[in-house]
Amino acid sequence: MDEHIMNPSGHSAQVIDGVALSSRLRTGVTQRVQALNLLGITPRLAVILVGDNPASQVYVRNKVKACQDCGILSGLEKYDAHFSESALLARIEALNHDPATHGILVQLPVPAHIDTAKVITAICPAKDVDGFHTANAGALMTGVPGFWPCTPYGCMEILDSIGYDLYGKHAVVIGCSNIVGKPMALLLLQKNATVTMCHIATRDLKSLTLQADVIVAAAGKRHLVTTDMVRPGVVVLDVGMNHDDAGKLCGDVDFDGVRTKAAYITPVPGGVGPMTITMLLVNTVLAAERLAPSLGTT
Ligand code: GUN
Repeated sequence: MDEHIMNPSGHSAQVIDGVALSSRLRTGVTQRVQALNLLGITPRLAVILVGDNPASQVYVRNKVKACQDCGILSGLEKYDAHFSESALLARIEALNHDPATHGILVQLPVPAHIDTAKVITAICPAKDVDGFHTANAGALMTGVPGFWPCTPYGCMEILDSIGYDLYGKHAVVIGCSNIVGKPMALLLLQKNATVTMCHIATRDLKSLTLQADVIVAAAGKRHLVTTDMVRPGVVVLDVGMNHDDAGKLCGDVDFDGVRTKAAYITPVPGGVGPMTITMLLVNTVLAAERLAPSLGTT
């Protein structure tokens, strides 16, 4: 891509189609599944949902459907909100030892009586396709093979799809969660970007976003990033999943305003969201390849 991307005022940003990119990547996943099938292996993802969080139920349904579309088996296990921590840990332990299961995902959040960190670290790192285990977080930090969390991984694929070279660029990440913001910053750093991490206590966010070549908005606050906060030619990835007053899904970015200045922008819905599930499929097939005795891919 042109090194000096600019959006001359009045021209709208190129809107990145996360659905189309997902579809291309899912074709690759399906082919890799078929190659494993020839070795007698069918990748399988165990999906555990505890409680009745309505958003989690939708996410889990979408994950299971996406697995089916690519030929990945999914074992959905639903437990009621009173399911005990020890019973959950026992289920994870059984799946860790099940050779037919290659990936294990416990949908978060879990009910308050269950210790999230305990649950995540109970999952065998080689099957932790969410990339949340401390072993995988450490692998990402030190740049050795592991599993990358799906949303930041999807953001990196989006940047790759537009041929964006991060070397020496200033990337501003808004939001510091373990699931998105922190791993996002590490992946950007790995590509030699200069990374600024902004969070709830950041003073004068605008002064930082105005210096950004790339903005990743993952704060969970609608209309946090407005037109006056970005410079022409910026690349904006919107990870937000919020609802406006009419109940419509919206991101963290004022899309209609910011698109008049940005070079590239992801919409909500249809941008980063579909990529998160796609990278889960990529991680699951990768887990199966790594666990296959005759392949041993990294
Ligand atoms: N809750 C919100 N996002 C995620 C995710 O990516 N994985 C899991 N397991 N739970 C989530």
